Amino acid sequence: VRLRTLLTSLSYSGKEIPNLEANIDSRIHDLLKLIRQESVEGKAVDFAKLAQFFTLDVLTEIAFEKPFGFLTQNTDVFEYISEVSAFLHILELCCNFPTVQKIISSRILAGLKPKPTDKTGLGAMLGIAQGVVKRRYASDAKYHEDMLGSFKKNGLTMEEAEGESMLQILAGSDSTATAIRMIFLYVLTAPSVYAKLTREIRAGATSPTVKTSDARAMPYLQSCIKEGLRMWPPLAGLLTKVAPEGGETFKDTFIPPGVEVCWSPFSMMHRKDVFGMDADVFRPERWLEAADDSNKDVLNKMDRTLDLVFGSGKYGCLGKTVALLELDKVFVALLYDFDWAVVDPVTPIRTRCHGVHVQTDIWLRAYPRSVK
Ligand code: HEM
Repeated sequence: VRLRTLLTSLSYSGKEIPNLEANIDSRIHDLLKLIRQESVEGKAVDFAKLAQFFTLDVLTEIAFEKPFGFLTQNTDVFEYISEVSAFLHILELCCNFPTVQKIISSRILAGLKPKPTDKTGLGAMLGIAQGVVKRRYASDAKYHEDMLGSFKKNGLTMEEAEGESMLQILAGSDSTATAIRMIFLYVLTAPSVYAKLTREIRAGATSPTVKTSDARAMPYLQSCIKEGLRMWPPLAGLLTKVAPEGGETFKDTFIPPGVEVCWSPFSMMHRKDVFGMDADVFRPERWLEAADDSNKDVLNKMDRTLDLVFGSGKYGCLGKTVALLELDKVFVALLYDFDWAVVDPVTPIRTRCHGVHVQTDIWLRAYPRSVK
């Protein structure tokens, strides 16, 4: 509880990281540069890959002082993505079969766990985390205004800071990449939405990187972000919680200790009684209509239900501020600098589900805009 309170109110809120927005802007410039390079002579770009490179560079910079360079090197640095993807099969088994989890966590298999001396994957990242944290926690280390600086200032131990740095990347990279991919794909495949959003952005922005306050003042952009998160909640597993010792009473129903309770983000976000009879359709206008309605109960209910996409209460997402900053900025940049088309309208994306949904192969054409 102590750790969570410190992290929520200070470190993850961004209050102690004055360069957070500027750093995200720099990563956006890297993203745009890579799209320009990759799309020469009308070549298609894999937006699924680009979105993940972007979120990983944002988060590795937040966690480890500088981005690993997924975008600038145009490569899966340390083979992190391929190793974590391969691990998802095991993760799915662990989630569904506690016995598998026990075997994996047993001492017999301890040798297979990621180690900081590994050259690739999570182990390599752990090695970097340990190195950076050790340097930053040295007695003569100067204070830096960044996430690690905030962790240290707020009394996290070295071990806690290492764990938290790794957790940010695991929790925040796939989830935000999924949000970016799916919101963008929904926009691109709804011509009237694409036209309206592009108009709003090009009228309201004077460069590809805008301040968050400017992005928040774009009502249609905000509606597209909300609607995309609603249509495809990035963490769509059942988010199980276990009733505590002594049990729990919820709305007059007693839940015995140890019983797992879960809810389905997909079903919740498609509730017709909350979002309307066309809840299965991507229609950003529903948010504007609800905002115009004199009865604000409808909008409140929609907003509160959508908030659940980031979890709630003591299990809520710590990185929501960072995630929303990324979302606010990235679509403005993508639509300010380029016109877009989906390469294969029949199969625009591949998805797999391992408890979490993984999307690959979103092939798009990006046409640089000549008029600025
Ligand atoms: C659109 C993007 C994101 C979504 C939808 C999302 C969603 C969630 C959800 C639903 C949970 C709670 C899971 C549960 O109930 O057990 C969670 C936890 C968490 N998220 Fe996010 N997340 C996003 C981005 C991020 C980012 C960018 C970061 C890091 C900067 C982050 C850091 C975390 C952490 C550290 C936790 C664990 C909190 C704890 O230990 O209690 N998330 N996220």
